[in-house]
Amino acid sequence: MAESIREAYIRRNPKSAALFPRFKQIFPSGGGGHDGYVTSPFPIAIERGLGSRKWDVDGNEYIDYGLGSASLLLGHSHPEVVEALMQAAPSGSHYGAPVEKVLEWGERVCSLIPCADKVRFVGSGAESTALAIRIARAYSGKDKIIRWESHYHGWHDYVMPGNLSPFDVPASTGIPRGAVDSVIVLPPDLAALESILASDNDIAGVITEGSGASYGTVPLEPGFVQGVRDLTRKYDVVMILDEVITGFRWSPGGLQQNLGIEPDLCTMAKILTGGLPGGAVAGREQFMAVMEITGDAQHDRYERVYHGGTFNANPYCAATGNAALNIVATGEMQANADRMAERLRVGLREIVDRYEVAACVYGESSTFHIFFGAKSIDGLDANSLKSAPPEVQTNFRQGLQVRGVDLMSRTSGVLSGVHTEADINQSLEAFDGTIKAMMDEGLISHE
Ligand SMILES: Cc1ncc(COP(=O)(O)O)c(C=O)c1O
Repeated sequence: MAESIREAYIRRNPKSAALFPRFKQIFPSGGGGHDGYVTSPFPIAIERGLGSRKWDVDGNEYIDYGLGSASLLLGHSHPEVVEALMQAAPSGSHYGAPVEKVLEWGERVCSLIPCADKVRFVGSGAESTALAIRIARAYSGKDKIIRWESHYHGWHDYVMPGNLSPFDVPASTGIPRGAVDSVIVLPPDLAALESILASDNDIAGVITEGSGASYGTVPLEPGFVQGVRDLTRKYDVVMILDEVITGFRWSPGGLQQNLGIEPDLCTMAKILTGGLPGGAVAGREQFMAVMEITGDAQHDRYERVYHGGTFNANPYCAATGNAALNIVATGEMQANADRMAERLRVGLREIVDRYEVAACVYGESSTFHIFFGAKSIDGLDANSLKSAPPEVQTNFRQGLQVRGVDLMSRTSGVLSGVHTEADINQSLEAFDGTIKAMMDEGLISHE
């Protein structure tokens, strides 16, 4: 009998397998810092990355469509980002004082991002959504935040309600009732939004992943983000656009530039720092003003948003952030990534059609998603689009890994500006082999 995907995965990765018991000894479920690294029978341990590729501890090479959770639009170890880090390293990591490089970094953000009059750097994407939500509450004097089913905004208490199906149960335990009660979770439906905005006078803001949930795994209807903008204006609530993935990737000015929509606040991370830790909130002057320290004791103690963070805007991340934003500003990286993503999507569609598999391929900008279960995603909601059987999703990702391709999640990926036609052609062979192997194993069937 032919070797199964799982058998090939185990055969190719003896060093990763040997490391796993040690990981499990030290980390819950073996995941050092992220639930997403946990997989059965063991995750592959990676050693290094360069350009569109990365290598594991067993010496296997991958064309990478995970790219540091979408942070590496410039590919792994981009020479200008590496050079910036090397130059900055000997000068120290923290001075507890303003740094000119940070100013330059902030100026770049303000010149690229349409809604950015002012910016505040934070430590991660999750911190950016936490701060944006606090600013919205402080600005409006109201408590509740509206968010959409399945949209991902990080892991803190105020974004866990509504993140995973069933959407009326927070995605994590340990979230206080008060936090849950302050979040209203809606399906992405403008009529539902208007009905809440018209009837509840305690709404501070609306937060949206403008691509649709999980960088477009669950796309939004055309015009939806504009609809959110119009309704948030009409009812005078703060619109937060979460651009942690779309920022600098959809275009140098993010999704807001593509759509010509200015949110009140936007959140960023990932590409912002050139792929190092960090994030930012940016927004219109009137909203960011709630962070001002004025010298008026009453105001400063009782009427402003407090914010700190030891490593926010540190000189290393400012250096890599400046190097990265300098490159992304031209739009060339995004144009190449989009072009290669389109080639990949077209090639993938051709493969699933040729094998007559009940699956479809979609995605915007430099992303791609494959849904196993139907020939079209029309009319499918977050529950359906994230419901492919776990063994199908896991075997798909591992089938690709044993053929030298890795994804960002089990059925989605992102591209960089340094992926080449040769990468795409080689990847399509891996996709072809994986689909065939999955059919041979009876994991997926004909339409
Ligand atoms: C849209 C979105 N918002 C927020 C976050 C959280 O960012 P971080 O993982 O840097 O905390 C993510 C992470 O993937 C994201 O995709």
